[in-house]
Amino acid sequence: MLEVTYLPSIVVVGTQWGDEGKGKIVDFLAKKADVVVRYNGGCNAGHTVLVKDRKFKFHLVPSGVLQGKIGVIGNGTVIDPKVLVEEIEALKHEGIDLKLYISCKAHVTMPYHRIFDRGKEIKRGREKIGTTGRGIGPTYADKMKRTEAIRVSDFISEKFEEKLSRILELKIPELLEYGIIKDEGELESYKREIMEEYSVYAEKLRGFVTDTSLLLNKFLDEGKTVLFEGAQGTLLDVDHGTYPYVTSSNATAGGACTGAGVGPRRINRVIGVAKAYTTRVGSGPFPTELTDEIGDFLRERGHEYGTTTGRPRRCGWLDVVILKYAKRINSLDELALTKLDVLSGLEKLKICVAYEIDGKIVKEFPASISELEKCKPVYIELDGWEEIERSEWREIARKDFEALPKNAKTYVQKIRELVDLPITIISVGPDREETIVWKA
Ligand code: GDP
Ligand code: IMO
Ligand code: MG
Repeated sequence: MLEVTYLPSIVVVGTQWGDEGKGKIVDFLAKKADVVVRYNGGCNAGHTVLVKDRKFKFHLVPSGVLQGKIGVIGNGTVIDPKVLVEEIEALKHEGIDLKLYISCKAHVTMPYHRIFDRGKEIKRGREKIGTTGRGIGPTYADKMKRTEAIRVSDFISEKFEEKLSRILELKIPELLEYGIIKDEGELESYKREIMEEYSVYAEKLRGFVTDTSLLLNKFLDEGKTVLFEGAQGTLLDVDHGTYPYVTSSNATAGGACTGAGVGPRRINRVIGVAKAYTTRVGSGPFPTELTDEIGDFLRERGHEYGTTTGRPRRCGWLDVVILKYAKRINSLDELALTKLDVLSGLEKLKICVAYEIDGKIVKEFPASISELEKCKPVYIELDGWEEIERSEWREIARKDFEALPKNAKTYVQKIRELVDLPITIISVGPDREETIVWKA
């Protein structure tokens, strides 16, 4: 088997609408890394990693900790203390020796953020974003507003209660609007309720908190290999995604610098993770979506149900216009192609190579959502390959690229040619072992 060559710092980023299999790829690459860093998002992320049929689900902790590596949760993230404490305890329970650092500059999701998130979605009605309901948008909104935010450093400080009182005062109109308090007289008891529960979390997290930017730069100076694990995907990025149907952080490679506190010149390599077809959870345009039996086939065969919310994912053909856009926005060096096994048994496979908008052929991903809504996919068609048992995929993964079925090789080579990027990793199953390293 070929080996992946390493450089000190690698960003792993989603090229589509999330759930590309970043967790699995990060876990695979983490074998040879020293440190793994989450740089954006919060517990909206769900990264599943399978190790010898033991399933691990990550929301905030970087997947690389399974390989015993140092985990860092960067300043660009938003942390729900309740979820993080539960995740840490679950990992310890599984016998994982956790070496974790949390940025003092990351922002904290409070219980009211979750309620605001869900309440705002109900109000949006048909225009809803389809958020995960984890309070992500309201937490980032408070970060940008500056006056009502809670950083991890505030959360673990003795002055937290005082700060919370001031913030709750400012939030009275919203707390009333969403029925969290019935009148102002309930404010004090609401604060006490939060303090009672959250001071326990603060106590449990305090020991992990540090200036992670300082730490990471030191690690890089020492020549340690650092993997940056993106959450979500390029099309969910708040600036470059299908706005407003996006998340509230920078999921793209640039987010690794701002979200971890390292300069752009410290990043050596960017790997884009692409699913061999496309999925999306939540609302918004999706040009290659399949609402027919092939879409159902991909959902069932690929177990396309959200790791975080359990919602069925919308499924469709691979879209190369999107992959080329992801290549540009993230300056991708290479691709990791996942879930190739899921396509087995389909007679024909389609790849979208361009869009048609009002009779015109467009090859660049549109910058406006109204244009994207009008896009009709232009496909090329390839022959599929026969059904393959999971045990057989494992056998293939033990060999190399050449062991893949002929039409699977043609499919991968076509993607390589259309996107014009090397495909260095091909994933043919959820397990760490079900991975092929290929130098294309
Ligand atoms: P992430 O959010 O990008 O980390 O992706 P998720 O973990 O949310 O979703 C990917 C799902 O596909 C998980 O359940 C993985 O275990 C699974 N998976 C990853 N790679 C492969 C693969 O190559 N083949 C199959 N069949 N499943 C995969
Ligand atoms: P991972 O890291 C897929 C989607 C939601 C919704 C939109 C906004 O597992 O790839 P939010 O709760 O962030 O305000 O929701 O973004 N979304 C994801 N979709 N994978 C994710 O993370 C996602 N995180 C958010 O479904 O459409
Ligand atoms: Mg996911």
